[in-house]
Amino acid sequence: MGRKFFVGGNWKCNGTTEEVKKIVTMLNEAEVPSEDVVEVVVSPPYVFLPTVKSILRPDFHVAAQNCWVKKGGAFTGEVSAEMLVNLGIPWVILGHSERRALLNESNEFVGDKVAYALSQGIKVIACVGETLEQREAGSTVTVVAEQTKAIAEKVSDWTNIVLAYEPVWAIGTGKVASPAQAQEVHFELRKWLKENVSAEVAASTRIIYGGSVNGANCKELAGQPDVDGFLVGGASLKVIILGILECP
Ligand code: G3P
Repeated sequence: MGRKFFVGGNWKCNGTTEEVKKIVTMLNEAEVPSEDVVEVVVSPPYVFLPTVKSILRPDFHVAAQNCWVKKGGAFTGEVSAEMLVNLGIPWVILGHSERRALLNESNEFVGDKVAYALSQGIKVIACVGETLEQREAGSTVTVVAEQTKAIAEKVSDWTNIVLAYEPVWAIGTGKVASPAQAQEVHFELRKWLKENVSAEVAASTRIIYGGSVNGANCKELAGQPDVDGFLVGGASLKVIILGILECP
C-alpha cells in the first residue's frame, strides 16, 4: 500500500501575527501538488493556531507543537488535547527533541502524551532522534528503538501516527543527515515496527525525516524507500518550503 507523502512545517517559537499572516498568504497563493499526493501540516505556536486555521487553505492542515499528557485542570501553562479538539486542531507534534532536552520529557512521558492525544481523536507526529554523542557511540538505533517502544507500549492503533526521525545533531545546524544515514535509520525503525507491532503497521506508517531539510537536499532524501516525507523547521518559515512540497 502506498504511503502518502507528508510534509510538516514546525514553526517552533517564532512569529508575530503579521509574520504568520504573511507565511500563510505565501502558502495560500502557492501552486502545490494535490492533497492526494502530499499531505501538508503546518504547526504555528499555540497563540496563532486559531488565526492560522481560520485563514489557511483547506487542503493544508494545522498542528499544535505540543499538548498536555492528560485531561486539563490545575496544570498552569499547559494546553490540553481537549482544548485542541475544541479549536478544531487535528494534529499535534509530540516528543520533539527540543522538549525532551529542555523540559526533560522522558520516553515514557512522551508515550503517555501520544496515547492521550490519540484517545481524544488528535493525530500525532511523534518525534524520535539521537544526539551526536549517541550517534558517535554507535547507539543510534538503540536510542530511537527505545523511544519508539515507549510509544508502542501505550498505543494499540497506529493509524493516526506519523513517526518523525529527527537526529538532534541535524536540527537547526545545516548538517543534514545524508540520504544513506536517513534511510538506514528509517529502515531500522520500520523493521522495529514490523518485529514489535505488525507487518501492516510497519508497511503503512509514514516515517518522515527532520533536520536541516531544504530545497537543495530534499529530493535525494525523498528518493529513499523508507523516507515518507519531512518535518521542516527553519525552511518552513520561508518560501523554500514550496520547493520541498514538490519533492515526491
Ligand atoms: O521539527 C523540525 C525541526 O526540528 C527541524 O528543524 O530547522 O533543522 O529544519 P530544522
